[in-house]
Amino acid sequence: MMGMRVATVKALMILVAVFIICASGGLVLSPTAAEEVPLVPAVYVFGDSTMDVGNNMYLGNFPLPYPPFPYGIDFTGPGPNGRFSNGYNMADSISKLLGFDMSPPPFLSLTPETSGEILKGLGGVNYASGGSGILDTTHNASLPLSKQVEYFAATKANMTEESGGNSTDIDALLSKSLFLISDGGNDMLVFYVNNPLGDAQPFYDDLVSNYTKYVKTLYGLGARRFGVIDVPPIGCVPVLRAKLLPWGENNCLLLANHLAGGFNEKLSGAMAELAASLPGMKYSVGSSYKLVLNFTGPPEAAGFNNVNSACCGGGNLGGQAICSSPNTTYCDNRDDHLFWDGLHCTQAASNKGAKAIYDAPLEEGFAAPINFKQLLLGDQPTSVSH
Ligand SMILES: *[C@@H]1O[C@H](CO)[C@@H](O)[C@H](O)[C@H]1NC(C)=O
Ligand SMILES: *[C@@H]1O[C@H](CO)[C@@H](O)[C@H](O)[C@H]1NC(C)=O
Ligand SMILES: *[C@@H]1O[C@H](CO)[C@@H](O)[C@H](O)[C@H]1NC(C)=O
Ligand SMILES: *[C@@H]1O[C@H](CO)[C@@H](O)[C@H](O)[C@H]1NC(C)=O
Ligand SMILES: *[C@@H]1O[C@H](CO)[C@@H](O)[C@H](O)[C@H]1NC(C)=O
Ligand SMILES: *[C@@H]1O[C@H](CO)[C@@H](O)[C@H](O)[C@H]1NC(C)=O
Repeated sequence: MMGMRVATVKALMILVAVFIICASGGLVLSPTAAEEVPLVPAVYVFGDSTMDVGNNMYLGNFPLPYPPFPYGIDFTGPGPNGRFSNGYNMADSISKLLGFDMSPPPFLSLTPETSGEILKGLGGVNYASGGSGILDTTHNASLPLSKQVEYFAATKANMTEESGGNSTDIDALLSKSLFLISDGGNDMLVFYVNNPLGDAQPFYDDLVSNYTKYVKTLYGLGARRFGVIDVPPIGCVPVLRAKLLPWGENNCLLLANHLAGGFNEKLSGAMAELAASLPGMKYSVGSSYKLVLNFTGPPEAAGFNNVNSACCGGGNLGGQAICSSPNTTYCDNRDDHLFWDGLHCTQAASNKGAKAIYDAPLEEGFAAPINFKQLLLGDQPTSVSH
């Protein structure tokens, strides 16, 4: 990796990977959408830049708005919006499929005035932070998963207080809500950049033991339905493709993809073990890995015309200059691109991927052991109570 420029490495660390997938036209909300009752009481979102809807803007380590224009160029909601996308991101795409307008708001933006419904267990909160890792050491300027889980515990404490110290009703709502987690891409990138040929087993062990701990903590706080998104094939991102001779599947960097794939296997195994030991826990693993491999296959199959270069950036494959630095440019045909910048997918890709994770037939392999729709609709203990 000696050729990798400092700026690019920094981008890797800060922007955080896991650009995922998603569902364009598929999720058109009907004109009466605003009056529709969402499928679940709330969505609680944890993760990295694939999910962040603005927390990093409040951290003080980053300029505001962050990331700057042209991020958000296609965003139709209120700005600045803090998303690492040209428009909406994966947290939004999934929330929309459940009947919400977009992702729940960033935790760090909340005030007593905007927390009323949230403290009644409705709508949810987004704790995700661009740069976040499963390991605290992965990028210490953002909110690691550990901190995000602590913040959820604080939210839960306030919810309980709000209901007079009795959490029974809140727990009933939480048990039906979606706990959405997408993290690990940054851990992979940092490990790969520092140590491309290193022994990954101890690294996987740390990741999985910490992940397991966080899922158990959330379970202890009332979470029951976990929608986990695995790590994408990081060797397919333009910043890595641009730097090395591509080889292997779909012209991505095979070693980097294998690093991610090895973690995903362990993650799936850990989730299955947790579900076997925690009564009432259900989960689905949505596979950003399989989605990105699918999208980077013959483009005509997935509907993107460009699956290897960044729409916004510069240099080889748009992966050698950071999107929004003064000398970079962006494309007009953003919906034809899988990648918005050197690390993150476009809004169109988020929408397409979310749709696949949500309700594609299981044999297509985009979610296992059930898809998100089955996770949220199957075996409803009682009807959604709002
Ligand atoms: C974060 O990491 C940087 C560089 O690795 C280090 O200088 C700094 O002390 C760390 N900050 C914290 C709060 O750990
Ligand atoms: C919880 O309530 C305290 C006191 O009202 C407030 O300062 C804090 O911001 C709230 N935290 C959350 C997570 O709602
Ligand atoms: C807590 O609330 C539930 C449901 O409203 C109620 O059935 C239960 O008796 C309450 N528990 C206590 C200790 O007040
Ligand atoms: C979490 O990761 C750290 C390394 O960052 C490791 O020391 C620790 O043992 C891991 N496991 C748990 C359960 O914290
Ligand atoms: C992508 O998935 C779709 C749906 O399963 C399938 O029809 C298509 O052949 C896949 N394309 C590749 C390149 O894997
Ligand atoms: C942008 O281009 C100018 C002039 O070519 C150059 O001096 C400057 O270093 C470039 N900035 C970046 C961030 O690449």
